[in-house]
Amino acid sequence: MRPVRTIRTQVGIVGAGPAGLTLAGLLGRQGIETVVLENKSRDYIEHRIRAGVLEQGSVELLEEAGVAGRLKREGLVHHGIELQFDGERHRVPLTELTGGASIVIYGQTEVVKDLVSARLAAGAPLLFEVQDVRLADIDSHCPRVEFSLEGQVTQLECDVVAGCDGSHGVSRATIPAGVLSSYSREYPFAWLGILAAVAPSSDELVYAHSPRGFALLSMRSPQLSRLYLQCRPDEDIASWEDARIWEELQLRLGLPGWTLAEGPVLEKGVTPMRSFVVEPMQYGNLFLAGDAAHIVPPTGAKGLNLALHDVRILAEALVDYYATGSKKSLAAYSERCLRRVWRSEHFSWWMTSMLHRSWDGDQYDEKLQVAQLRYTVTSGAAAASLAENYVGTAKA
Ligand code: FAD
Ligand code: PHB
Repeated sequence: MRPVRTIRTQVGIVGAGPAGLTLAGLLGRQGIETVVLENKSRDYIEHRIRAGVLEQGSVELLEEAGVAGRLKREGLVHHGIELQFDGERHRVPLTELTGGASIVIYGQTEVVKDLVSARLAAGAPLLFEVQDVRLADIDSHCPRVEFSLEGQVTQLECDVVAGCDGSHGVSRATIPAGVLSSYSREYPFAWLGILAAVAPSSDELVYAHSPRGFALLSMRSPQLSRLYLQCRPDEDIASWEDARIWEELQLRLGLPGWTLAEGPVLEKGVTPMRSFVVEPMQYGNLFLAGDAAHIVPPTGAKGLNLALHDVRILAEALVDYYATGSKKSLAAYSERCLRRVWRSEHFSWWMTSMLHRSWDGDQYDEKLQVAQLRYTVTSGAAAASLAENYVGTAKA
């Protein structure tokens, strides 16, 4: 591929997910130029249903990026979650246990829409549907990103490249073999998730441990419910008609005197579960952020929040670099991120292990899970530990 056009920027950002777009927004406000490259269409990224829980720190970061207007108006502020096991629900009062912190329910789709529209309104470059993205010379002082757009081959020259292209992107794969250490855990579970046009049947999220497997009641708005069922990683979604999904949700979430309201299913899909981390999150002038560097199973609602935390640290380091010319903060980026990454990895693994049923029905495992759940809701210390991890105030 011979580049026919060259453009230049300070920070080249690969991927217009929450990490890439937020980084671009934060840097833009500090007068640092960026170009964001995305290989999917705008419509696709704005409708890809994923996370829904924002920590308070994530909300503050989106405020700092100047994109929290609608989030403040429409986001649902929650002060607790429910844990259900042994046929009972127990509230974990997050705000009370964390000295005032809360979470906000606001879909990742909405975060992405807000970031895209702010970027386009500012007239800043955000290129959709770029193809053949390739990183070059990442260990030099002039790393490049080559790509083609509508048949034209372009090279983007940068000072720094931010690899925000998710778990299947090209950035991480560009780092030479032997540089990165990777750590992973596969789970024998996945989540079958639906979005349904029905008012949520609970004011707060319900994480349910049941003999039939885990289920989660979540939401997107006062009119939209988001629900999940533990399933097998190779689950055939075609065998899950809407009626079967509701029936299983009723069985796992149901309690005497409480009804799960049903409604039209607008979307359904299966999400695999994996834990994965690479270290370090940097090589030369390439910095990995978000899912490009780490994945967590969704049980702790941490994926999106971790991605935003990475770019907060990266933006600070880049601002320092352009102000002082020193790369000291950039050199500390990976270490600063990884402490929180591993805290969230542990919390997500812990929540996943405590709430999902092993397929072989191991009764010893089940007894341990219920003992841990009971301890979590009866011991103030254990509840506070869950709460501070869930809202994101736990020290890493
Ligand atoms: P992404 O959102 O993946 O963004 C990366 C972007 O890079 C994408 O837009 C992608 O199209 C683009 N890209 C990829 N390759 C290239 C390339 N070669 N060139 C240019 N662009 C490229 N977390 C939760 O907390 N709760 C959940 O319920 C939840 N559900 C999830 C469901 C699914 C199916 C997945 C995959 C993840 C889910 N997550 C969930 C995790 C959460 O959504 C992610 O942690 C979050 O999206 C990370 O943001 P990111 O910007 O790092 O990566
Ligand atoms: C969601 O609403 O999509 C959601 C909520 C909590 C989780 C995971 C997903 O732990």
